[in-house]
Amino acid sequence: MPKPTVVPLQPLQPFKPAQPPASESAQRGGMRLKHVVESQQFTVPLLMELFERSRGMEHVVARGGTLDYQNRIMTALFYEPSTRTRLSFEAAMHRLGGRVLSTENAGAFSSEIDGEQVEDSIRIIGSYSDVIVIRHPEDHGARRAAEVSPVPVINAGDGNGGQHPTQALLDLYTIYRQRPLNGLSVAIIGELDKGRTARSLAYLLAKFERVKMFFVSPPQLQMKQDILDYLDQHGVRYELESDIDRVIGEVDVVYQTRIRPERMRDTSGLGRYAIDSKVVQRMKADALILHPLPRTVELDKSVDADPRAMYFRQAMNGLYVRMALLTMLLDKEQSAGNASWLETR
Ligand code: CP
Repeated sequence: MPKPTVVPLQPLQPFKPAQPPASESAQRGGMRLKHVVESQQFTVPLLMELFERSRGMEHVVARGGTLDYQNRIMTALFYEPSTRTRLSFEAAMHRLGGRVLSTENAGAFSSEIDGEQVEDSIRIIGSYSDVIVIRHPEDHGARRAAEVSPVPVINAGDGNGGQHPTQALLDLYTIYRQRPLNGLSVAIIGELDKGRTARSLAYLLAKFERVKMFFVSPPQLQMKQDILDYLDQHGVRYELESDIDRVIGEVDVVYQTRIRPERMRDTSGLGRYAIDSKVVQRMKADALILHPLPRTVELDKSVDADPRAMYFRQAMNGLYVRMALLTMLLDKEQSAGNASWLETR
C-alpha cells in the first residue's frame, strides 16, 4: 500500500483590508464589531470588508481550511432547531481551526430548565469561550445576551419577528457575487411581519443607493411599521403588494420565504404566493431567486434546475460569510475597544 500523502494546512495570511478613503475610514472607525445583533449596525464599508474577507474564505475552504484560530473556542447556544445556521457556524469555526461547544436545544438541555436566566448562562459560557452564537426564541434575546457578555455575541435568529442578521449578510453576499447592489429592485415575498430573515434583509438593502423593495404578502402578514418607518426615514423606495404577478416580471431579485399555513385564515390562498417553473418563466432572464430555506410549498422543486436559482449556493455562502464574520470578531484589532454595535447609518 502506498503511504497517503499528507498535505499540511497552510496558515491563513493576516487579513489586510485595502486602505479606505478618509470618509469611509471615519465611518468604519465608529463601527468596529463587538457583537452582531441586528442588521442596522452594518455600514456599507463594513459590509464591503466582510464580503472581501468572505471571498478570501472561499479560497481558504477550497484548500481545506486553516489552523490560525486553533486556540479559539466558539459556543453555539441554540434554543430553537436549525440546520443551516448552527451547522454552518460550527463548520466555519472548524475550517478556521477553532473548537466548538454546542447545545442544540438549550432550553431543555441547559440549566435554564431549572430557571436559570439567559444572562447568567451567557456570563458563564463567556468565561469558557471566545465567541457565542445564539438563537433565542424571544425578541431581543440576542441583545440581552450581548448586554452582559464578556465575549462577542452573534445573533443567529431571535424572536418571532425579530432579526436574523447573519442570514441577511449571506443573502446580500449571494447577490453581491452576481451583480452590483446599487439600483436593485427586489421582491421580498412571504410572511413578512414575523419573517426575521426578510426583516434583516430589508434593513441591509436599505444601505444601498436607488434600491426599490416590493413587499409581497397577504395584507394581514405584511411588513411591520418599524421597517417601513426606517425606510421612509432613509428615503428608500418600497411598495406593499399582495399579488406576485404584478412584480415578478420587473424585479432583479426574488427573495421567497415561507408562509406558515396556520397564519392564514383561508389556506386556499397560499398558492398565490408560491413559485414554480411556470411562475419563473415570467421573471427577467437574469433575475436571481433566493430563499433562506427551509422551504415547503412556496418554492417548488421544479425551480431547482433553473440557473437563476441561488438558494443552495446561498447556503454554501453562509459558510464563507460566517467564517469571515468570526475572524472579524475574533481578531484582536477588531474586537478590542468595546465599540458600540448600535445603528450608525
Ligand atoms: N435559514 C435558516 O436560518 O435555516 P436554519 O433554521 O436551518 O438555520
